[in-house]
Amino acid sequence: MEPRTFAIRTFGCQMNAHDSDKVANLLLHAGYEATADDEAADLLVINTCSIREKAEHRLYSDLGRLREWKAQRPGRLIGVGGCVAQQAGDALLARFSQVDFVFGTHNLRLVPSLVRAAEEGQREIDVSTSPSLDRFDLPERHPGFVETSPGRAYLTVMEGCDMFCSFCIVPTTRGREVSRTADSILREAESLAARGVVELVLLGQTVNAYGRHDQRRGRATQGGTMSFAALIRRLAEIRGLRRIRYTSPHPIFFDDDLVRAHGEIEALCPHVHMPVQSGADAVLERMRRRYTSDDVRRLTLRLRAARPDLALTTDLIVGFPGEKDADFEATLALIRDVGYVDGFSFKYSPRPGTAGAEIADRVPEDVAQARLEAVQDLLRQQTLRYHRGRVGTSTEVLVAGRSRQDHQLAGRDPWHRVVNLDVASFPHAVPGHLVRVQIAEATPHSLIGEPVLPLPLAQAGFSSGAAAFRR
Ligand code: 5AD
Ligand code: SF4
Repeated sequence: MEPRTFAIRTFGCQMNAHDSDKVANLLLHAGYEATADDEAADLLVINTCSIREKAEHRLYSDLGRLREWKAQRPGRLIGVGGCVAQQAGDALLARFSQVDFVFGTHNLRLVPSLVRAAEEGQREIDVSTSPSLDRFDLPERHPGFVETSPGRAYLTVMEGCDMFCSFCIVPTTRGREVSRTADSILREAESLAARGVVELVLLGQTVNAYGRHDQRRGRATQGGTMSFAALIRRLAEIRGLRRIRYTSPHPIFFDDDLVRAHGEIEALCPHVHMPVQSGADAVLERMRRRYTSDDVRRLTLRLRAARPDLALTTDLIVGFPGEKDADFEATLALIRDVGYVDGFSFKYSPRPGTAGAEIADRVPEDVAQARLEAVQDLLRQQTLRYHRGRVGTSTEVLVAGRSRQDHQLAGRDPWHRVVNLDVASFPHAVPGHLVRVQIAEATPHSLIGEPVLPLPLAQAGFSSGAAAFRR
């Protein structure tokens, strides 16, 4: 039989994006071919997100449209996985006859067999959950796997969440918190580094809670884990790994060792994305976040003491039930006090089955919208101020690829800012490589890098050099 082709559509967070990569890798190993084009695909896998209502609705409207896609060619198949699949389960198969199989967040490994069953005409589902670590045992990268971001790789260190913040559906869709063994993490990291990965992004729903269940019981090695800071120290020793990041940490799991690591480990990037959600203590309490806004201020000081140039970014929710004007002002005050360099902000979206959805005292839509705009406005100002402060400094950019304007390359610096480079000034820069640049200009969304002077022209990698002499 001709190899069949698959495409994957991904919604939601980095964890989902990484899961889609894992599914793609499994399908490649099973003999399928990848395509980025739905029209060329025989199999479409949709990896869904249910963090907010909007993401969930996107799935349902997509599925409607995909009836036609399926009718265009006999034998086409549709599989649905991710957080909506985990929650809706059988209801998805019952409600959408165009869906051929459904898999949950713990069952990526079953996708090839679910596809085979679907090819035989059986509509199967597996949304079972298990605390087992088997789900982390995945095959090595298939040679046909195409990197979406060369030189950079995600690596799952823990999964699931036991925090049950009252707004959040994740503990339901991703299950209980489990940490992978340090051995298996280190092995994967070594194999990634051997294949040219220079930047590693450690992933977990509360990534810095890594290993805490073992640590708390005082059995540092029994469960095969170690403290998160110890894990970072070990990863930093791997040859070739130049940058280590982690996402997303929870503010309550920054122990002194992790804070210290930020000052001591060169490869640990000077950027932390730390969701705070709100700056009002009453709201934080109803959100069940287990910290106050002053805890966040103190943590910021500790981190800055260890690493003065640390760039902090965050997630914020506005319009949580009961959020008063004064609460919202407290959020703006926290954003200013911490000096977030950027952030993602969202209007609260009640998720059925979460404690937050039961709280009365909903904030009217127009008030939530106005607060969202105010938060975004403030963050935009702070981003631009930060960018302007970077002009004249030098940094290293991991080139990701061409930016939207074709004559530019785009990449990220250690502070996670997007830096654009003129192709003509960096003719030898290739995706996946690090290049040294000087920040020449600041825009609201990115920095503009130019070759660093003084350097021999050939080494700086440009022929005319005109752009470099502008300053
Ligand atoms: N409504 C709005 N935003 C939410 N988030 C999580 N749950 C909700 C919800 N019910 C946001 C949080 C989290 C980010 C990934 O999504 O800010 O950090
Ligand atoms: Fe959701 Fe809170 Fe867990 Fe983060 S820590 S995944 S916000 S429940």
